[in-house]
Amino acid sequence: MRRKYICGNWKMNKTSSEARKFAKDLNNSEFKNVDVLIAPSFVTLESLRKELKSEIEIAAQNISQYENGAYTGEVSAEMLKDIDVNSVIIGHSERREIFKESNEIVNEKVKRAISEGLKVILCLGESEEIREKGKEVEFVRDELLASLKDIKTLENITIAYEPIWAIGTGKTCNSIDAEEMCKEIRNTLIEEYTEEADSTRILYGGSVKPENAVEILSKENIDGVLVGGASLKSEDFIEIIKAGENL
Ligand code: 13P
Repeated sequence: MRRKYICGNWKMNKTSSEARKFAKDLNNSEFKNVDVLIAPSFVTLESLRKELKSEIEIAAQNISQYENGAYTGEVSAEMLKDIDVNSVIIGHSERREIFKESNEIVNEKVKRAISEGLKVILCLGESEEIREKGKEVEFVRDELLASLKDIKTLENITIAYEPIWAIGTGKTCNSIDAEEMCKEIRNTLIEEYTEEADSTRILYGGSVKPENAVEILSKENIDGVLVGGASLKSEDFIEIIKAGENL
């Protein structure tokens, strides 16, 4: 049984003072049988970790592939662990597209995070152009295998399938297509890692809202959601968390 995992990616939104109000709202809500994670900006991580109740997980949105040294502007795994942040999102399509992170760089980052004991949410997803050509399964499979190259166990890994054309566009991938891709991802993981992959959580991301959360979360191979826009409003995010309870 894979417990549903409701994750909010704030991207480059919310100052630390805005995050404080959100933390109060979340701390005042009770959740049962569901795991919750928030990924704020780097500068908000430490204060949010202190303000949020401990059962809510905090993740960074990125990490350096390097251990330490002369890498201006980068943040290391050790720096995250030192402020009690033990999870990180890697390979988001905005990092891949805008900041030109290749599969090789993503793989270096995954290896660094895992070797330092961090939990990873690895993001994958095809562009509209690839889907129109009918090549989405092949593309996502290649991205998955390349990003996980030389990773021996899935123990600390969650996968997030986020089709690029559904991110921030209001165009949700329909739940049947999303389930189909998440199943393809699981089958690929089973081929590589055998039955260990049965317990790996696979999330869907892309225009998830309170209105579509139950339908998406009810699918067999969708073990949670990675929410952008709708994670910025506490009422909406809490409604999405509630949708994942007891499913
Ligand atoms: P939206 O929910 O705003 O479409 O963003 C999804 C996303 O990119 C989460 O990482």
